[in-house]
Amino acid sequence: MVSVYIHIPFCEKKCNYCAFLSFCPSNAERKRYLSALIDEIERYDGDNVAKTIYFGGGTPSLLTTEELGTIFQKLRQKFEILSGAEITIEVNPNSISEEKVKFYREMGINRVSVGVQSLNNKTLKKIGRLHSKRDVKLALKTLSKYYDNISADLILGLENEKNVCHYAKKLLKWKVKHISAYMLEVHKNTPLFEAVNRGEYRPLSADGVTKSYEKLVKFLKKYHFFQYEVSNFAINGFESKHNLNYWSYGDYVGFGISAHSFLGGVRSANSSNLKGYYGGEKNCEKIDSKMEIEERIMLGLRSQVGVSKLALKKLGYDITLSETYRKLLKEGVIREDGDRFYLNEKFYKFADYHILNLIA
Ligand SMILES: C[S@@+](CC[C@H](N)C(=O)[O-])C[C@H]1O[C@@H](n2cnc3c(N)ncnc32)[C@H](O)[C@@H]1O
Ligand code: SF4
Repeated sequence: MVSVYIHIPFCEKKCNYCAFLSFCPSNAERKRYLSALIDEIERYDGDNVAKTIYFGGGTPSLLTTEELGTIFQKLRQKFEILSGAEITIEVNPNSISEEKVKFYREMGINRVSVGVQSLNNKTLKKIGRLHSKRDVKLALKTLSKYYDNISADLILGLENEKNVCHYAKKLLKWKVKHISAYMLEVHKNTPLFEAVNRGEYRPLSADGVTKSYEKLVKFLKKYHFFQYEVSNFAINGFESKHNLNYWSYGDYVGFGISAHSFLGGVRSANSSNLKGYYGGEKNCEKIDSKMEIEERIMLGLRSQVGVSKLALKKLGYDITLSETYRKLLKEGVIREDGDRFYLNEKFYKFADYHILNLIA
């Protein structure tokens, strides 16, 4: 069984902070890309039982119903999609309509992830978003007529930490059941990076970002959102199964430019330029046991999936013999439950530090 990822690299306009692989395509580029994507799915001959499907981007909601329908037709030809499979689409508030949302339901999409980022119109404008707070409200109103399973993305660090709980409260009122809260990353070669260098934009200090995060964690806990990963919060039963598969070290196959796959211990990445992608270029890497040990610890500790001691032992690493491990256990940073160990949620904000110590 695999999780399937489909990359739709189209955007109406690049946001000032975004370094994800996406571009504003001409009609010809759009056609060529979608045809290459369909061909790539057609050529696939690996595990064909799909337990989750995820349309990510870019902006998959820019696809017309016809384009999305063609991709689904190919997916259904190639994969046995398990009944009850989670099927997610990422949408931007300004590029959905009731007609599209109805079509998503018809196609079997049962989870929608909305890029909100902020609910402050000035901030949204500054970071180059094409939507306003009102657009978010209207989009969620339309979506909630058809969907229960709605997630929203927020970016922490764009503005004052006082606002974050206010935004979360609104999202809850608008029926969101899952929140992903990412800390702002200022990437080189983005307009945001240049604006910060010119002194025209001052993101929140690291201390401010930590405060925003702590406030959000506390607020969401009060409203019964379970923090099941460093950046992800959900009402019980609304966790992203697709992401849980990544963190559990499950197999996945990715289609589209720059998409990654992990099948039978081999990781591969499609080319991240169009010419290379169209030519079928990809990089493959066999994961050796040292890499697998590190990755299992990294992925498992950042989430409530945890890490199996037995799985590590089979790879030749008895973690119970590690002094750092025993120290973290004694200090309550890590807890054990049967075969698995977990990072306690209150240490999530230092997750990377503890993980690095553990795998050093
Ligand atoms: C791959 S993007 C696609 C989502 C969708 N296109 C949108 O913008 O609404 C997924 C999420 O990554 C987050 N993201 C993108 N760039 C980021 C950055 N520089 N720092 C923090 N979060 C970022 C945003 O929250 C965004 O919604
Ligand atoms: S954040 Fe989303 S809409 Fe903005 S450029 Fe990135 S992928 Fe496109």
